[in-house]
Amino acid sequence: MAHHLLIQLSDVHLTRRGELAPGIDPAANLASALALLEDEDVAADVILLTGDLTNEGDEPSYRDLAAALASSRAAATATVVYVPGNHDRRGPFRSVLLGQAPDEGPINQVAWHGGLRLVALDSTVPGEDHGSLDAGTLDFLADALAEPAPEGSIVVLHHPPSPSPIEMMAALRLANADDLGRAIEGTDVRAVLCGHYHHAGASHLGAVPVWTGPATSFVADAASAGDLRILPGGAMTRIDVDDDGVVTSVIPIGPGRPAPGARGPVRPG
Ligand SMILES: [Fe+2]
Ligand SMILES: [Fe+2]
Repeated sequence: MAHHLLIQLSDVHLTRRGELAPGIDPAANLASALALLEDEDVAADVILLTGDLTNEGDEPSYRDLAAALASSRAAATATVVYVPGNHDRRGPFRSVLLGQAPDEGPINQVAWHGGLRLVALDSTVPGEDHGSLDAGTLDFLADALAEPAPEGSIVVLHHPPSPSPIEMMAALRLANADDLGRAIEGTDVRAVLCGHYHHAGASHLGAVPVWTGPATSFVADAASAGDLRILPGGAMTRIDVDDDGVVTSVIPIGPGRPAPGARGPVRPG
């Protein structure tokens, strides 16, 4: 089996408002993430943007995102997959990022890298912050998975099917996780990749591993179960897919990151 390197940028929350809160600058964090990929020569095969790509769902912010990716050397050779989240709006998302008519239906997509199939689902419910897969999206998933892919499939959606330890986030999970579980049971799906919680987490849906990627824009502190506590900082995930399986590794994007090429004094391990 070939090696596939996926880079997950989740919850970018781009905004023309500047800082969302003191020290939280989504555009600066996105720029840091893309610069890091270039500086470290991380050759992504696929870049997955797993929802909440903008904070307000406005067209100018989608244009800013498209421009950032278009000017990125790291993205130039990668397949870029845009997945909507609860902060996105389907009309401007479609017209700016996908070059399609601004239809309001779910944005479901299939992308390939070699023999690896990526099935990206729209788990958003317009006007709501929780997630759900509607009947049409579940049909799309069933059709996409009807025949096994040569190197298996990965399902990508914004809302995790598993809870967060932060109560407010847990209430905004994928409401019909059971439907997703039934749809992928016994198929070639090797992993489910999500975002939305703004903290990293690993779980499973039946026998399939579920990865919740951290946000590039800011951190939701998993130490605070009751209140939603927001911290500056951000991270992305590299996902290595090959014969060893699906391996997810978090890459911090700052603050405190050393200059490109610098190596710390810490021993490996
Ligand atoms: Fe988000
Ligand atoms: Fe979200």
